[in-house]
Amino acid sequence: MSEITLIATTSFGLEAVVRREVQRLGFDDVRVSEGKVEFRATPEDIPKANLWLRSADRVLLKMGEFPALTFDELFEQTKALPWEDWITQDGEFRVTGKAVKSTLGSVRACQSIVKKAVVERLKRVYKTSWFAETGAEYTIQIAMLKDVATLTIDTSGSGLNKRGYRVQTGAAALRETLAAALVQLSFWNKDRLLIDPMCGSGTILIEAAMIGRNIAPGLKRPFAAQEWPALGQDMWREERAAAREVILQDHEFEIFGYDIDEQMIDAGKANAKRAAVAKNIHFEQKDIQDLWIDRQYGVVISNPPYGKKTGEFKEMNQIYIALNKMFHKKKGWSIYILTADKIFPKYFKRSWPDRVRKLYNGVIEVQYYQYFGERPPP
Ligand SMILES: C[S@@+](CC[C@H](N)C(=O)[O-])C[C@H]1O[C@@H](n2cnc3c(N)ncnc32)[C@H](O)[C@@H]1O
Repeated sequence: MSEITLIATTSFGLEAVVRREVQRLGFDDVRVSEGKVEFRATPEDIPKANLWLRSADRVLLKMGEFPALTFDELFEQTKALPWEDWITQDGEFRVTGKAVKSTLGSVRACQSIVKKAVVERLKRVYKTSWFAETGAEYTIQIAMLKDVATLTIDTSGSGLNKRGYRVQTGAAALRETLAAALVQLSFWNKDRLLIDPMCGSGTILIEAAMIGRNIAPGLKRPFAAQEWPALGQDMWREERAAAREVILQDHEFEIFGYDIDEQMIDAGKANAKRAAVAKNIHFEQKDIQDLWIDRQYGVVISNPPYGKKTGEFKEMNQIYIALNKMFHKKKGWSIYILTADKIFPKYFKRSWPDRVRKLYNGVIEVQYYQYFGERPPP
């Protein structure tokens, strides 16, 4: 059991960001495909990957991968895998599934075959036909893609976006994993000025402050694999202690968040406090039309409202005019805007975006418009 394969799942468009994160954690045997980054690791790396990955959705332990065109093949090959290495005799497990472009297209049938095969295997190994199911929980996933079955066990539990700091949120709050990716796709670093002029509950800024201070995003939350006897609690304790050691304590940040809605500002402050970065972010209630910045170099990362109702177009128009006024001459600013409004670049007239990335905010397709600023003089 010394070598394992982990899969960091990602939302569409974030594979390259997650690959870089995985490599930065020291993994070099990495394979990327749509929605996943696979890497060779050891069991000790399960806590590390869960605690540190900022933009991945989950960390899955890969048990096996094989072609399966019939239920018999699926059953036999699932049964041949060493489930007992991970699932204890009293373990409680469930099977989830998905199937895309596969002969075995019925997800429910695949799930039930996999469940039967794992039970068969455990019966044989543990020499019992009755399982108490009072122990740790395991979620097995069967993913059928183009007739290839991939079997995994979820090590994360709830999605990695759930950092545990969100006390209050607006209806349009970004997922923490996406916000962390937006920051990592920008030119921002801890020594640069950062502004989100429509910060809502502050997700982008909180993620930036956590990156700047080197705070592991999973430090404050539990993970499914924490309860697995195969790993033991010590590994998790040690990884958490090591993560606490490397937090940057004394650094002067220039991170500013504004929003027209006072309640959003209160939510941002409460969330930042829970994330232990309150002292690093200045929040203030302000309409973007009243905001003026007289600095020449900095970074804006924001996701403005992108309403579909007629009334909201006027509001968006005013926001675009305000952004234009503030930044069309300030060529030293890098501006990053995430929006579903495809006409945004026509309104933000500073230049054509240097780069546009298609991403997903939940199920909504959005574009990340990136305008690179000029470098500050040396
Ligand atoms: C899509 S939400 C941002 C969500 C945020 N990224 C988060 O994760 O919570 C857009 C925000 O723009 C704010 N907003 C709308 N009009 C504004 C204006 N004129 N000036 C400043 N903020 C405004 C809204 O109150 C809302 O919180």
